[in-house]
Amino acid sequence: MGLGICFGLPWLILVVVPYLSAAKVGTFAYSEGDHPEDGQKVYPDPVSQRYGSSDYGRQVYAAEGCAYCHTQVIRPTYAGPDMWIPGWAGREGGKENFARETQPEDYVTEPVALLGYQRIGPDLSNVGHRITDREEMHRHLRDPRELELEGGMPSFRHLYRRSLTGEGVEPTSRADALVDYLLSLKKDQPLPAAYLSRN
Ligand code: HEC
Repeated sequence: MGLGICFGLPWLILVVVPYLSAAKVGTFAYSEGDHPEDGQKVYPDPVSQRYGSSDYGRQVYAAEGCAYCHTQVIRPTYAGPDMWIPGWAGREGGKENFARETQPEDYVTEPVALLGYQRIGPDLSNVGHRITDREEMHRHLRDPRELELEGGMPSFRHLYRRSLTGEGVEPTSRADALVDYLLSLKKDQPLPAAYLSRN
């Protein structure tokens, strides 16, 4: 009996309850009052779940171990200060404020949700809004020291090769795919009213 409670209760809380809440994940249509950008009709948008747009790049991200130092989850305010860190939670300011916590639906098109283990570096859920220039993204991977003097971001020079002309280096297809993936990371699709009023 005691043993049953010791093992049964954690199993219920850690396995069954999360499973049942994850099983509820669905799609939600925008109504007229909502303002979907880019012609999106539903949330989560299967076509433009843009952060999933570079499958190969995501594999490179996983293989290079980026998730050991970078997370991809904006926690609710009760769990941490993520919402207050400038730029982390998505686009801010103006009439349309998209900054928000990540939701389970934000990961539905990803075969593996790369939530990350630790935050040695900044959260990358919305890095596609913070760094929009391709070359600048490459520089973060190739020459991080050049950009951040004291940063702990290691150089991923092995993803680059010497250019044929002999001047400088050029990205390999792995580096290009990784940059595609990073530029696409935008976990801030506007949430429809139907989603906010679910349950
Ligand atoms: C050893 C830990 C570590 C690993 C591994 C690592 N990073 Fe970083 N990364 C950092 C740190 C620390 C920073 C912050 C540098 C600074 O601003 O001083 C950073 C910054 C960045 C930034 C800039 C973010 C911003 O908002 O300005 C990007 C993009 C980035 N990393 C991508 C990657 C990718 C992609 C990988 C895998 C190929 C990776 N990182 C692997 C530690 C790491």
